[in-house]
Amino acid sequence: MEIIQRSPDLRAALSTRTAVIFVPTMGNLHEGHLSLVRMARRRKGVVVASIFVNPLQFAPNEDFAKYPRTLERDCALLEKAGCDVVFTPTQSDMYPEPQEFKVHPPAAIGDILEGRSRPGFFVGVSTVVLKLFNIVRPNVAVFGKKDYQQLLVLKNMVAQFALPIEIVPGETVREASGLALSSRNQYLSDLERTEAVHLSTSLRLAAEQVRSGRSDWTAIEGAAFDSLRVRGWLPDYVAIRRQSDLGDPTEGQALVVLAAARLGTTRLIDSLEI
Ligand code: PAJ
Repeated sequence: MEIIQRSPDLRAALSTRTAVIFVPTMGNLHEGHLSLVRMARRRKGVVVASIFVNPLQFAPNEDFAKYPRTLERDCALLEKAGCDVVFTPTQSDMYPEPQEFKVHPPAAIGDILEGRSRPGFFVGVSTVVLKLFNIVRPNVAVFGKKDYQQLLVLKNMVAQFALPIEIVPGETVREASGLALSSRNQYLSDLERTEAVHLSTSLRLAAEQVRSGRSDWTAIEGAAFDSLRVRGWLPDYVAIRRQSDLGDPTEGQALVVLAAARLGTTRLIDSLEI
């Protein structure tokens, strides 16, 4: 496995490759990330992963400075998972000058849910992913359903800019308890970690209620929201939405339930297709 820091070197390494499958990450890798790399590995071509903690997608009050950076361990895990090339740019490699051109997703998908709780988040994500796409020039890029709205925003970006890239979704990897794997789980105390499972439990309950035929979405969302609040969480949202565009739910269409909530100082997100 090759580890490459600078874009010209990456370009040179990939110049003879006809098929490139790309897995962008911010590092501190866990089984969720690695499952995406293994999915990529099952396709024909060179598998490229990137590790870059993107300052553009963190608000000033967020955890950019303390986001765990574990490059050596990450590279060992990537190699085992079948990755061929890791792209590890520094801040100044990615942003040699301030990034003034930015991608602004449409409000209907970019300013709701995560975008509402974290203004500018999807501008930061879309901008860095477009830039990474231009450096790596992949044919296929793999993203996790764990970040459901991110996946949708990026799918729409690729479609509207006519980028010749197939976006492939990967299922959310969970602990046996149901807790979705996340780099941010590390911030949890032992007690919080035991409590953290209730985010996925409340989503599962909401999903079951919809599956059982209920369509009083607001009541189901409210009950899930309150069940988290009484347990000491500070939920940002629990929302039942259409899978296709995260619009308001309509009967007979594929739905997804999404939630974000703070437990102590840690903000966790999760989602479940219904
Ligand atoms: P990061 O949080 O490191 O996640 C990288 C990829 O791993 C994303 O596609 C995410 O959805 C996926 N992922 C995270 N947890 C997962 C889990 N438990 N199961 C399956 N997949 C999981 O998402 C980002 O980085 C950044 O926003 C990025 C796209 C790299 C742009 O900076």
